[in-house]
Amino acid sequence: MISQDYLLELHQRSDIVELVSSYVQLRHRGRTYTGLCPFHSEKSPSFVVYPENQSFYCFGCGAGGDAITFVKQINNVDYIEAVKLLAARAGLPLPDERDDTGKLKSRILAMNKETARFYYESLNTEAGLAARRYLRGRALSDATIRRFGLGFSPDGYSATSDYLRRRGYTEEEMLAGGIVKRSQRGGVYDFFHGRVMFPIFDLRGNVIAFGGRRMGDEGGPKYLNSGDTPVFKKSRNMFAMNIAKKSTSRRYILCEGYMDAIAMHQAGFDTAVAPLGTAFTPEQAKLLSTYADELVLSYDSDEAGQKATKRAISLLASEPMKISVLKIPDAKDPDEFIRKFGAERFRMLLDGSDNAIEYELSRARDKYDITRPDGIVGYIKDAIEVLAGRCTPTERDVYAGRIAEETNVTKAALLNQLETRLKQKYRKAEKDRQKELLSEGQISRIKVPYSQGGDKAKGVANAEYQLMAAAIKDPQHLVRVCERLSPERFITPQMAEVFRVLKEVHEAGLPAELATVSHQLSDEARTALTRSLADNYDIRFTDADLDFYFERIEESVPKSSKAAEMSAQELAAYMQQLKAKKQ
Ligand code: CTP
Ligand code: MN
Repeated sequence: MISQDYLLELHQRSDIVELVSSYVQLRHRGRTYTGLCPFHSEKSPSFVVYPENQSFYCFGCGAGGDAITFVKQINNVDYIEAVKLLAARAGLPLPDERDDTGKLKSRILAMNKETARFYYESLNTEAGLAARRYLRGRALSDATIRRFGLGFSPDGYSATSDYLRRRGYTEEEMLAGGIVKRSQRGGVYDFFHGRVMFPIFDLRGNVIAFGGRRMGDEGGPKYLNSGDTPVFKKSRNMFAMNIAKKSTSRRYILCEGYMDAIAMHQAGFDTAVAPLGTAFTPEQAKLLSTYADELVLSYDSDEAGQKATKRAISLLASEPMKISVLKIPDAKDPDEFIRKFGAERFRMLLDGSDNAIEYELSRARDKYDITRPDGIVGYIKDAIEVLAGRCTPTERDVYAGRIAEETNVTKAALLNQLETRLKQKYRKAEKDRQKELLSEGQISRIKVPYSQGGDKAKGVANAEYQLMAAAIKDPQHLVRVCERLSPERFITPQMAEVFRVLKEVHEAGLPAELATVSHQLSDEARTALTRSLADNYDIRFTDADLDFYFERIEESVPKSSKAAEMSAQELAAYMQQLKAKKQ
């Protein structure tokens, strides 16, 4: 039996998008990825990968599950074998045969996490004052510092290693993780000291390395970076990728350094990433193309930056991404540009000079004679349509202001009208979605056993599917479902099974996630659950939704439980009644 802790760790160290994309050519679609199903033959893609809950589901053949299920099915191996394969991929030693390197890797990861925390906390000590000032001088907010976990490595040669020693880490472990170096006299010293620290995370949020910047003009090289260690290969990772991959935008921005990437995130561009103290590598190009549709190169404007841009372009030539190059006028790098001119100007640079909104607005204006009232009405109607399209809130505000000036209609009135239109559009989209769900979605695929009411009970069955999806998505919902219902009450065997397992996991105090429950489920139950999750991918269940499902289930009187509560006589009478009704 493999422990839940181990499975959680294994899932934490594997990314399903990355895993699947080594077998299937995936394309993003909003927050999901689609491709041709590897489990049946098809011409148009119905296979979907969901990064948020780390699952996959094929709407064509019904295959579905988590990373382990995928490995199991694609390699045609059993469960244990699949765990082994996935563990090998993730560099995680097997629970029973944790060899020395495996053990060392997990020790280094744990140590790195503690080290990052130590650096972060050191910012708030007296010794960290200069570092705090430095970060403030570079215009970083507290929120940004927290988001990136920036910190300070105290001066001297042993502050960090002393701390780690007290926490039970050995010199060997610190050496292996690159936190200390061996000195000429045979002792060890802190590799990073007196520097502002940038922790480097992998895709699943493990701290795998550090970069450190000196604060003044003196004190060695401007940046120091961890060398490769058993948990870190710089050519394969990218700075801020762990944050960027959660963005809804597929336009990534590649910049040269940590500070540029951080400045962009702070200004609202959450897809900025940077290499790790080396030139851009082919592996990084491949990594980016897994997540990005479009890549904007945003290197420094100096000669070195332009050279690096050229090099990157040639490396990116074979990747299926749209590549563009940003010219940054009047500043040496994006960080400086944003500080001098602000985020909005930077966004305009990014979007390029021929702005699609402006173009469409001017076309609308040309259509009408805006010296006449009816012309104004027509123009505004079209303009609202443009602004209700692909615009950011800022753009809406800016352009509404301009249209107000042109037409002498108040900006407030325009924004009001725009708001109404946006709501309408949203409602329509939501309605369409519901309709789709009902017609060809989940309901039509649910099978209810004849003994439980067959097709007539589909509404109840659907409520069960919805409740289980809600319970997995939000632990609060699971608590409510457990309080209100019991698995015996469910009429679909698959969801009854899911509920039973979820309840057990929850009562054992473990997080009830796909990772912890999926291996305890039969194939049918797991497939049904992943399907329900797939159907409800972009739904956030509210308490009111839950109430609705509860009522549906409770208002139906399950024949079986009714029968079970009756005495023999009552039962006989009931059967008589039924017979009478039939005739
Ligand atoms: N770099 C490095 N070692 C150096 C200088 C730079 O490893 N001695 C790497 C760092 O990863 C840095 C990137 O190269 O982030 C870009 O260098 P530079 O343009 O000098 O960095 P900036 O991010 O602009 O740094 P800052 O704004 O802090 O001066
Ligand atoms: Mn810079």
